[in-house]
Amino acid sequence: MSEENTSGNKPAKAIRASLLHCLGSPDPADGQTAVEFIEDGLLLVRDGLVAGLGAADDMLESLPDTVAIDDQRGCLLVPGFIDTHIHYSQTDIVAAHGRQLLDWLEIYAWPGEMRFEDPAVCAEVAEFFLAELLRNGTTTACVFGSVHKGSVDALLQAAAARDMRMIAGKVLMDRNCPAALLESCEAGIENSAELIARWHGRGRLAYALTPRFAPTSTPEQLAATGQLLDSRPGLYLQTHLAETARETQWARELFPQAPSYLGVYQQAGLVGKRSIFAHCIQIDDNDRMQLAAADSSIAFCPGSNLFLGSGLFDYHAARNAGIRVGLGSDIGAGTRFGMPENAGEAYKVCKLAGKPLDPFEAFYLATLGGARALHLEDKIGNFAVGKEADCVLLDYNATPLIARRIGEAKNLAEKLFAMLLLGDDRLVAATYILGEQVHVRN
Ligand code: GUN
Ligand code: ZN
Repeated sequence: MSEENTSGNKPAKAIRASLLHCLGSPDPADGQTAVEFIEDGLLLVRDGLVAGLGAADDMLESLPDTVAIDDQRGCLLVPGFIDTHIHYSQTDIVAAHGRQLLDWLEIYAWPGEMRFEDPAVCAEVAEFFLAELLRNGTTTACVFGSVHKGSVDALLQAAAARDMRMIAGKVLMDRNCPAALLESCEAGIENSAELIARWHGRGRLAYALTPRFAPTSTPEQLAATGQLLDSRPGLYLQTHLAETARETQWARELFPQAPSYLGVYQQAGLVGKRSIFAHCIQIDDNDRMQLAAADSSIAFCPGSNLFLGSGLFDYHAARNAGIRVGLGSDIGAGTRFGMPENAGEAYKVCKLAGKPLDPFEAFYLATLGGARALHLEDKIGNFAVGKEADCVLLDYNATPLIARRIGEAKNLAEKLFAMLLLGDDRLVAATYILGEQVHVRN
């Protein structure tokens, strides 16, 4: 591949490393994921976009001297990880002991979220949260704020300052929650509309309407959210669905006229393209068929599901139904920011169902699968020419154990699997946003 065009605002640059990315979705029949691997590769970046990739020897021949080369040989460059479900306002209550979902919300999550009434808390946590994402190689996330609109202002302002592609929204709750977090239906919708006007479509940012889950919204609030969702193109809807049996039972009791828990959201016009439902453990084949028909997405949050003891998501049933599935850390019910660790937990959840996840498919979920779940596959998720050059440099020698295990690996799949299962934030040697290094490991 050649570097023929020298026009553009910034000088082109290139990263030299081993390159790995997914070319397509896994085949539902056998889980085979098409990947491209280039042992000694070069990723060419111009104006923040992928301008080319190929074998370093071939590309270097035709590259002008003006192209700066960031030599990272010995590391593996992959697309930036994508977290399809995370709560930034739960950063400080992560790893809270002992409770299941509904008690955990009351005892830990909601008191923690009350602190976000203070803009200084919002700003400080937003900075820490984004730094933590980047330290773990996550370059795009779909994020819940708290009910306070200032929480989303702080997060999206900090994301814009880093040029990160980010989706976020303030939580909507107009019943069944502490008074300090309660908003009227009208106020919640007004505040969301204000945030949409301020942030949606600005640079790399998008807004997600965020009713927390059916039990904390009245039918009126869900219906008003559905109307607002239709008010601007490209808006997202994010919520929780059928995470535990008790929660599902509660939702059915609160909405007796709905045919199912998913039906509650359908009746409000919330189930469509760009709707992201976290968990979906207690769903059935009919729900899956409807999610697929609506082109909605599921955020698979294995670390959270194991930590809270919520249950085991049937990943293969969702995938085989043709639903877009991405991985979510679900911090703070999940305990790990890193998508490699969450991919490792996904492997274990699938293994318990007797269907071990292929290493490349686990990698797909953390990259191109996440992009597809967020309907962003035309912009991020792999190194296709023209996509945004968000990427992560993984270190084969991140820890003595990883180096030792990789030394024994017989092929790329084994190396990748060892990284996912044994890695933590030390795996990430550097993170790039639009081709610019924004994090370097100490
Ligand atoms: N269901 C409703 N709210 C939440 C939350 O904050 N975390 C999780 N894991 N599930 C929820
Ligand atoms: Zn969640």
